[in-house]
Amino acid sequence: MSKKLKILVTGGAGFIGSHAVEKLLTLNYQVIIIDNFDDFYSPAIKHKNLENIIDHPNLQLIAHDVRDIHNIKALENINIHSIIHLAAIPGVRKSGIDPKQFININIESNNAVIAFAQSQNINKIIFASSSSVYGDHPSQPWHEELDNLHPLSPYARYKLECEHTGETFASTANNQFISLRFFSVYGPRMRPDLAMYRFAEKIANDQPIEVYGNGSSYRDYTYIDDIIAGIIASIHYDKHGFDIFNLAHGENIPLINMISALEKSLDKKARCKFLPKFEEESAGTWADIQKAKNTLSYHPKTDFASGIKAFCRWYKQTHLSNV
Ligand SMILES: NC(=O)c1ccc[n+]([C@@H]2O[C@H](COP(=O)([O-])OP(=O)(O)OC[C@H]3O[C@@H](n4cnc5c(N)ncnc54)[C@H](O)[C@@H]3O)[C@@H](O)[C@H]2O)c1
Repeated sequence: MSKKLKILVTGGAGFIGSHAVEKLLTLNYQVIIIDNFDDFYSPAIKHKNLENIIDHPNLQLIAHDVRDIHNIKALENINIHSIIHLAAIPGVRKSGIDPKQFININIESNNAVIAFAQSQNINKIIFASSSSVYGDHPSQPWHEELDNLHPLSPYARYKLECEHTGETFASTANNQFISLRFFSVYGPRMRPDLAMYRFAEKIANDQPIEVYGNGSSYRDYTYIDDIIAGIIASIHYDKHGFDIFNLAHGENIPLINMISALEKSLDKKARCKFLPKFEEESAGTWADIQKAKNTLSYHPKTDFASGIKAFCRWYKQTHLSNV
């Protein structure tokens, strides 16, 4: 089989990144990862994420900070087709505590990636944006044309700012910036700071879980394989300019249902301790995915019941010694 295009994936050792890289390699792309293995959560988990692919002949791993991308000699003049820019610190809540760190990393990473693309004549950037940019917009399900957005956290504000910088990049002839607004991604290898993972861990170990709000908040949970299908489809979508796509399942699942699904799959009862809602988080997220369906042929395949079973199966196999 002949080798395909070269794709640069920033944050490729993370949850979404490692799945994206795995898929790209099976599709015979050449892949370069830049990841600095930051300690937002254990770097050992990120190394483990790559254990099945690390020796793949079409993969090159560069352990480096993406903000310093212009100093990476190995990346000069090597004909990169596109950049999938996932590197960021992801925590909505943490961004309220230390917004400066989020500017330093998330905004500067995006600026560095764009400047690098310009210097190397790379025309295409696919950017990981977030459902959080919609804040608590009352018009649901949210579609990409909604304006007057009021993100609730610094993390979300900076995602929106990165989209705006991307739009400027895309205004140059032949350039393309695709902003994918991911909605609550879950599945095997998911980030340990995310509620679903923390709840699974606590329920499995018979510990109480802390539920913020009364359980009626809802999320449009999206299974990792569907997100990856949307990313891959974006590589093939080559209309120049700026585009935004919601990548979601298109369904709103109340928190309390998520907890029941975990209980069922883990065959354990949750003990819930209810605490006040976090102001920086949307009360509910729900996406209109018609644009991605029509333009990217994005058709999410994993329903919530099957997805949560797959997540719990993975969790039990990797974390519980008695299974
Ligand atoms: N997981 C979700 O539900 C979700 C939802 C919306 C948006 N996103 C976005 O998707 C992207 C990936 O998220 P994830 O859940 O896989 O997170 P993750 O933390 O697992 O992955 C991010 C990776 O980026 C790396 N990184 C961070 N800063 C870096 C830097 N300066 N240089 C190089 N590498 C750096 C980290 O080491 C990590 O491996 C992020 O941009 C996140 O904001 C995720």
